[in-house]
Amino acid sequence: MKTTLQLCFLAAISSSLVAIFIYISGVSRSPAEARFVLTEDDASALLSLQSGFRQCVKANGLGLEAESGSDYCRVTMRFPSDTVPKWKDPKTGEVEGLSFDFDLCEAVAAWEHVRNSTTVLTKEFIDSLPNGWEEYAWRRINKGNLLNQCQNRTLCLEKLALVLPETPPYVPRQFGRCAVIGNSGDLLKTNFGAEIDGYDAVFRENGAPIQNYTQYVGRKCTFRLLNRGSAKALDKVAELDGTGKEVLIVKTTIHDIMNKMIREVPISNPVYLMLGASFGSAAKGTGLKALEFALSICDSVDMYGFTVDPGYKEWTRYFSESRQGHTPLHGRAYYQMMECLGLIKIHSPMRTEFNRKVDWLPSQAALSAARMASEKLLRWVGGGTSDPLSACSIIKKRDKAKAPSMSGLREAAIRHQKYVRGATMYPLEHSPGHGMLCMIPEI
Ligand SMILES: *[C@@H]1O[C@H](CO)[C@@H](O)[C@H](O)[C@H]1NC(C)=O
Ligand SMILES: *[C@@H]1O[C@H](CO)[C@@H](O)[C@H](O)[C@H]1NC(C)=O
Ligand SMILES: *[C@@H]1O[C@H](CO)[C@@H](O)[C@H](O)[C@H]1NC(C)=O
Repeated sequence: MKTTLQLCFLAAISSSLVAIFIYISGVSRSPAEARFVLTEDDASALLSLQSGFRQCVKANGLGLEAESGSDYCRVTMRFPSDTVPKWKDPKTGEVEGLSFDFDLCEAVAAWEHVRNSTTVLTKEFIDSLPNGWEEYAWRRINKGNLLNQCQNRTLCLEKLALVLPETPPYVPRQFGRCAVIGNSGDLLKTNFGAEIDGYDAVFRENGAPIQNYTQYVGRKCTFRLLNRGSAKALDKVAELDGTGKEVLIVKTTIHDIMNKMIREVPISNPVYLMLGASFGSAAKGTGLKALEFALSICDSVDMYGFTVDPGYKEWTRYFSESRQGHTPLHGRAYYQMMECLGLIKIHSPMRTEFNRKVDWLPSQAALSAARMASEKLLRWVGGGTSDPLSACSIIKKRDKAKAPSMSGLREAAIRHQKYVRGATMYPLEHSPGHGMLCMIPEI
């Protein structure tokens, strides 16, 4: 079985190489089209990403294996055949499968862009987005459909004002080592608390408590990602860290109840709305949003408290009765893909060694090459170049007076700002590959 697959793959590679060669040496075409033609270097960057990826999953995946699919991008992540899936789709009643297809090209391109983007909603973003107030702003307001596309802009602005900074409060690489803490009951199997407190920034989710659990989850609270339910209980969530400093990031809409609490309780924590990419069905939960947010402002991201070890019995939480989760095996496979793309490092009861080396990680250069090749293959706006601003499909100048302060930033953050020539890049939501909105400094 395996050899047949490998043979098929070899055949596929050689025929696609031939096809590419014919394509390259073929008729002349427009420069715009030519930009999207894969070179031999592109092809080999993708092939080596894929073969390294298979090795990485084998070495780090606790039984998971990756198989190459029929092209440069597709991989299938397969759980051991004796895995007993325990989650049933409540709609169809079907149990979760044991193998999942992922598109490595899309993943490497999308996530590399997240690392250079801003994921907080700002006023300058709405102002600069074509029809930003009429077509976008009301979607971020609960019951915004009653606002007549923000015909009365003052009213819309009033509703958003408490969570809408003028410019981004954070920049890429602002924090060094970060830890994202999920809510899995697995956390109670290991004393990760002291280790977690050693990070520069810690990201938590929804109503996850700290008090009474510090031995397992640490005390440090820097950011907290909130879904709709938690955002409505903002007063309770704000009490969890006890300092009033934890930054609350809401991934849905602003709600009148929330505004009222911020004003009247009052809540001193900064509150922002998240602006983010969409990663399809594998990636909907608060956990993935927390990883996305962390990756957009940290050098490195470590993950704790996600159910990622084999043999889970049920979907548990460290602080309450178990809850109905969603697609746990799919999630685990996706996180393993992220680890093997060098995006995160997973810590869990079966991966407790703090300095555990993730074997077979692609180098930064290999990732860049694969990312550029993937952008071509996917025909993304500005794809395939190393120009830092090539993905900017909308460019606006920012008033000098409104430039965010760079004082006190880490050197890595300043270096990155120089690299992007002071630009801020906002993802245009739900359209990875269709470019970014970029604010560039007025000269
Ligand atoms: C727009 O909303 C503001 C704030 O609620 C209100 O004071 C004003 O009267 C509204 N303007 C119109 C034309 O309805
Ligand atoms: C912590 O434990 C104490 C004593 O059992 C309890 O009264 C308190 O409510 C707990 N706090 C939280 C946040 O669970
Ligand atoms: C993101 O920025 C880094 C420099 O900080 C650069 O090396 C990398 O290529 C950039 N990625 C993308 C997708 O532009």
